Amino acid sequence: MERTDGFIVFDNVSYEYPGAEEEISGDVKNDTPETGNTGAGRKYAVSGLNFHVNKGEFVCILGRNGSGKSTIARLMNALILPTEGHVYVDGEDTAETKDLWEIRRKVGMCFQNPDNQIIATSVEEDVAFGLENIGVEREEMIERVNEALRVCGIEKYRKTEPHLLSGGQKQRVAVAGILAMKPSCIVLDESTAMLDPKGRKSVLEIVTKLNKEDGITVILITHHMDETAGCDRIYLINEGTVVKEGTPKEIFSDRDTVLGLGLELPPTAELFSRLKSEGVNVPDAVLGIDEGVSVLLNLAGKD
Ligand SMILES: Nc1ncnc2c1ncn2[C@@H]1O[C@H](COP(=O)(O)OP(=O)(O)O)[C@@H](O)[C@H]1O
Ligand SMILES: [Mg+2]
Repeated sequence: MERTDGFIVFDNVSYEYPGAEEEISGDVKNDTPETGNTGAGRKYAVSGLNFHVNKGEFVCILGRNGSGKSTIARLMNALILPTEGHVYVDGEDTAETKDLWEIRRKVGMCFQNPDNQIIATSVEEDVAFGLENIGVEREEMIERVNEALRVCGIEKYRKTEPHLLSGGQKQRVAVAGILAMKPSCIVLDESTAMLDPKGRKSVLEIVTKLNKEDGITVILITHHMDETAGCDRIYLINEGTVVKEGTPKEIFSDRDTVLGLGLELPPTAELFSRLKSEGVNVPDAVLGIDEGVSVLLNLAGKD
């Protein structure tokens, strides 16, 4: 069956890792996708999961460690297939597609540890690696590699050995390798978690630009709350299922839910939330320094 109601659609998806029942301790006998997951002993890494991401959207997935985020990422490009339910990518059921590689080309994955993603001995060879695998002609390969290096701001490192680069530069090499494949969507699974603030910023700026200027769909899995301010929508995940969906404003106005899931508010939202609880007349979910400054200027009668 084809689906046309989103670029990526999860329809009641559950996933159990092979052997999970033996490996994960705890009472899993009564776990079903419906009764769900009751903590560390749950059998299903994700259960009864429904969500969709539209073409061109920038969506964040937030949840604490073990909540199922990486499993969701793997399901998105058919690295794993649902135990129950269906995942559709660009209308195609990942369990039924004849061309898994086409799904993996369309949905590029960037993982957490940049060292595990680098294969070749120079930056340009690394960026070309996927293209060689799919047999792209030499001239087009050179063109695509040049363009990807340019977009990711790493042209000057093209001959450099990747292991000499910083974490942020390595992640930009990984993103360039994905870009060269001309994906419709990029999934970043905690790809900024190991980076310093400068490296995080450089990777985020690139994917934001790819989203805004080139219409590439971005799915950002993160636990840095401040990285979510500019996204279109957030899915809050807990115990392998969606707890809440909404715009950053909607999500971070609900402080109790966010904190209840073991997450935090972005720093400015936390600051204004506390001011509000002290009786100061400020709006909910002030996201980012710029908005904070304008709210404070207004309060001070200086806008
Ligand atoms: N390869 C695996 N084999 C068995 N269980 C796994 C495997 N990977 C993850 N899990 C379990 O699945 C659940 C979700 O994990 P994961 O998707 O990695 O969460 P997150 O990325 O949010 O930290 C956890 O209970 C985890 O222990
Ligand atoms: Mg993970």
